[in-house]
Amino acid sequence: MRFSLLASAALFLGVRAAAVAPAPIKAAVPSPDANGKYWIHAEGISAAFVPYGASLSDLWIKDKNGIVRDIVTGFDNASYYTVDTQHPHFGGVVGRYANRIKNSSFEIDGVKYKVRPNDNKTPEHPEGLNTLHGGPDGWDWRNFTVASYTNTSITFSIVDPDGKEGFPGEVISYITYTVSKMQWDFKMVAIATTKKTPIMLSNHAYWNLDGFANTETRLALNHTFWLPYSGSRVDVDNILIPTGDIIANRKGSPNDFWSAPKQIGHSFNDPELVNNCGYNCTGYDNCYLVDRPTPFNWRKDGPVARLQSAWSGIQLDIYSDQEAFQMYSCNFQDDTMAIKKSQGIFDNAKFPRTIPKYGCFVLEVQDWIDAINQPQWGRQDKHIFGPGGDPYVLQASYRFSINSTATPA
Ligand SMILES: *[C@@H]1O[C@H](CO)[C@@H](O)[C@H](O)[C@H]1NC(C)=O
Ligand SMILES: *[C@@H]1O[C@H](CO)[C@@H](O)[C@H](O)[C@H]1NC(C)=O
Ligand SMILES: *[C@@H]1O[C@H](CO)[C@@H](O)[C@H](O)[C@H]1NC(C)=O
Ligand SMILES: *[C@@H]1O[C@H](CO)[C@@H](O)[C@H](O)[C@H]1NC(C)=O
Ligand SMILES: *[C@@H]1O[C@H](CO)[C@@H](O)[C@H](O)[C@H]1NC(C)=O
Ligand SMILES: *[C@@H]1O[C@H](CO)[C@@H](O)[C@H](O)[C@H]1NC(C)=O
Ligand SMILES: *[C@@H]1O[C@H](CO)[C@@H](O)[C@H](O)[C@H]1NC(C)=O
Repeated sequence: MRFSLLASAALFLGVRAAAVAPAPIKAAVPSPDANGKYWIHAEGISAAFVPYGASLSDLWIKDKNGIVRDIVTGFDNASYYTVDTQHPHFGGVVGRYANRIKNSSFEIDGVKYKVRPNDNKTPEHPEGLNTLHGGPDGWDWRNFTVASYTNTSITFSIVDPDGKEGFPGEVISYITYTVSKMQWDFKMVAIATTKKTPIMLSNHAYWNLDGFANTETRLALNHTFWLPYSGSRVDVDNILIPTGDIIANRKGSPNDFWSAPKQIGHSFNDPELVNNCGYNCTGYDNCYLVDRPTPFNWRKDGPVARLQSAWSGIQLDIYSDQEAFQMYSCNFQDDTMAIKKSQGIFDNAKFPRTIPKYGCFVLEVQDWIDAINQPQWGRQDKHIFGPGGDPYVLQASYRFSINSTATPA
């Protein structure tokens, strides 16, 4: 197992160095591998994608010892994405409206709309009290079309029809993923072609910078996290619906990731962390504001977030044009989802080959959540799009490095 993984990793990561053959007259067109995955490669990085949800299925980086680590959750093959019934939004594009919509409703130009609920199910509301990530058949449950594919880039497209999940108007979207040296970039563009509608997208990858191979701990709580621009967050009720208030991340409190980098597990004994991610939930599922002086150059003024593991030496710096950042600490993972064959510890059976609670983190660049229901925030023009207006655009750059900084406690 270990040898075959390393051999294929060497093949992927060494593609450029090994390219000594004479230049072909017409470059070969790449195609998906035997598992249905679309790989793209650049120096020090390989990433794979599947049409289902336009999902990132694999991201391979060499750790500080030169061992390739697959640092995102996913499935071993493209066909399993439609077979899986638990559906944790592994690596997909959440849309047409990311995060929660209060009471599954909103108003545009005086017209009330009701969308399909799928979150916080109760006996009185068996479908749910609100809508999460675009509804029960949101974008990350659907097959996108591969619009273009090269060795370093892939673009997916989707046409989301008028009325789907209750949303008004048709939306057409293009999602482009590109790799360059130790870097993964993405651009998400969406156009409302027929009616005004809410649009907010994000990538929903789950990260474990040790590739679930850390021999000392099953949890990722020793990862260090830093949100240098995030002195405040969106206040939420006990089912994670914004109350309308913006609250300070008090220095030294569990949500203070701005004053200095700290391990995500640092505050796990602090009573203030209980209910921080909803009723009876200890951990994180919070929308932090990214408060940069304007104007800013998002490619340079950053990172907006940094995640780092001392064990693997892998550091991820996230640059983005978005003005909020959601972090979820895998509070509801419970060892029922398997890790991939490319992950885990190969030479012993020390830990189960599943994803434990607090074993990963979702890092979502996006705008202020549920702003469509908080008009006093004045963000409608970043959330409601219509024919003839500007398109929705999200850009992000995920930059990897090895052995970059020391780890605080
Ligand atoms: C893509 O990579 C393959 C080898 O993996 C190579 O044969 C092909 O020429 C490359 N295509 C381009 C356009 O660089
Ligand atoms: C990272 O640092 C360790 C020592 O802590 C060293 O053994 C290793 O070679 C370094 N790796 C890289 C890629 O710089
Ligand atoms: C596809 O992947 C799933 C989960 O990763 C695995 O259970 C299944 O056996 C795989 N199927 C094939 C044909 O490899
Ligand atoms: C939720 O939306 C429904 C309309 O679908 C409305 O009748 C109800 O009053 C709303 N509830 C709250 C608490 O706003
Ligand atoms: C997505 O495509 C797969 C084949 O790759 C197919 O098995 C599945 O039924 C499709 N799912 C949807 C929702 O269209
Ligand atoms: C993880 O962090 C805790 C403190 O937050 C510390 O006690 C423990 O030794 C750390 N473990 C590793 C493997 O770094
Ligand atoms: C919340 O936690 C308390 C104490 O652990 C427990 O008694 C209660 O059943 C929990 N409620 C829910 C809804 O999980």
